[in-house]
Amino acid sequence: MTQNEIYGKKAHDLIPAGAHTYSRTDETFPGNAPRVIDHTKGVYAWDVDGNKFLDYGMACRSVTVGYGFERISDAAIAQIRNGNTATKASKVEVDAAETLVDLIPWIDMVKFAKNGSTVTTAATKLARAYTGRKYIARCLEHSFFSYDDWFIGDTVMNCGIPQEIRNLTIDFHYNDIESVKKMFEEHKGEIACLIMEPSESEEPENNFLQEVGKLCKENGTVYILDEMITGFRWDIQGACKYYGVEPDLVTYGKGMANGFSVTALGGKREIMDLGGLTPGKERVFLISTTHGAEMSGLGAFIETVKVYKELGVTDQIWKMGKKLCSGIAEIAKESGLSDYIYTTGAECSPNLVICGKDKKPSMEYRTVFLQELLNKGVLMPCIAIAYEHKDAEIDYTLDAVRSAAKVMTDALNGNVEDFITGNVIKPVFRKFN
Ligand SMILES: Cc1ncc(COP(=O)(O)O)c(C=O)c1O
Repeated sequence: MTQNEIYGKKAHDLIPAGAHTYSRTDETFPGNAPRVIDHTKGVYAWDVDGNKFLDYGMACRSVTVGYGFERISDAAIAQIRNGNTATKASKVEVDAAETLVDLIPWIDMVKFAKNGSTVTTAATKLARAYTGRKYIARCLEHSFFSYDDWFIGDTVMNCGIPQEIRNLTIDFHYNDIESVKKMFEEHKGEIACLIMEPSESEEPENNFLQEVGKLCKENGTVYILDEMITGFRWDIQGACKYYGVEPDLVTYGKGMANGFSVTALGGKREIMDLGGLTPGKERVFLISTTHGAEMSGLGAFIETVKVYKELGVTDQIWKMGKKLCSGIAEIAKESGLSDYIYTTGAECSPNLVICGKDKKPSMEYRTVFLQELLNKGVLMPCIAIAYEHKDAEIDYTLDAVRSAAKVMTDALNGNVEDFITGNVIKPVFRKFN
């Protein structure tokens, strides 16, 4: 038995689903993916059998500079040596808050946490407290906001969540301003907040973000933009800066601290301060956690911001994203596969689409494509480019894409099942296992 098999089996025996994130479980990868990773460095991962992979998952997109980037790790270690935690607010806690408030013009106050779900849920709670309303409006095309009931209850995996709670989340469509207007008309004066990502696999069109902002203002609804993925990737000031939009509340996470566990809820003082201690005001139990201000993560965050400014991290991410996207498009064209292999969305965070014979996205063909990339040592559950993906890595990846395009041609001309050596990749959100 290989170490991958031994640890892979243990993982499933000991941890429900075998991992702590559904998108990191075996079923979302082809069968030849590493089962368990031993260590990571730069943009590479080594599995427990010592196999090396060029990584594009980058730990659920949370590592935007590179795994174990020394300056950032050293800053975290310095805070560990500084005690790592304290009985009262720590100096690094205040310094980190100042760093974020100075960096983002539309943030007056900030609360840090450890997970993205904590801060998006806190944003919805704050909005309900601020408006006294019950409905949460969320963008239907955006795949994930929180593991909490307000969001999961509105997906097909709503088992364990009472209908009463599910009824309180309503939906609109991205880039479809009419769907937003209709929702506001149907729930006049009842929508506490509207939440979406500034951009996911599609970029905003016809000033969608600004138009939604206007509708929120007119309807007294709190406008929340979730920059978990887009923050620290589109721009150091996030996609809000890139697209020129100012939300009432904003959430960050992945990328803030190069993979250290730091997330943030920030926004306008009059809303954020509801969680404060202003005398006479009704108390709102905002985020209050034992580990939310762990000094190591916050030290890493402050250093990450310095690294971004000094090294031009987001410029490099865009540059390499453009190179990868145009390389993939060229290979697809040369192979006559432009309708079957392409990328969508912003080039700093491309969405890879793999289609079947009917030219519609296909899990079977995606499996074939990613399986061949893995045969070449490229691990690409998604495309999360980091600063340390340099020309050499992109060139290597494009060679692997060339090879995967050849296998795709054969699969499109034949029977796709014959090309799948393990399981077919499955989506996280489905009703039954
Ligand atoms: C857009 C978005 N919001 C929120 C979250 C939740 O973050 P976390 O996994 O840290 O709870 C994610 C995680 O994938 C995300 O992609």
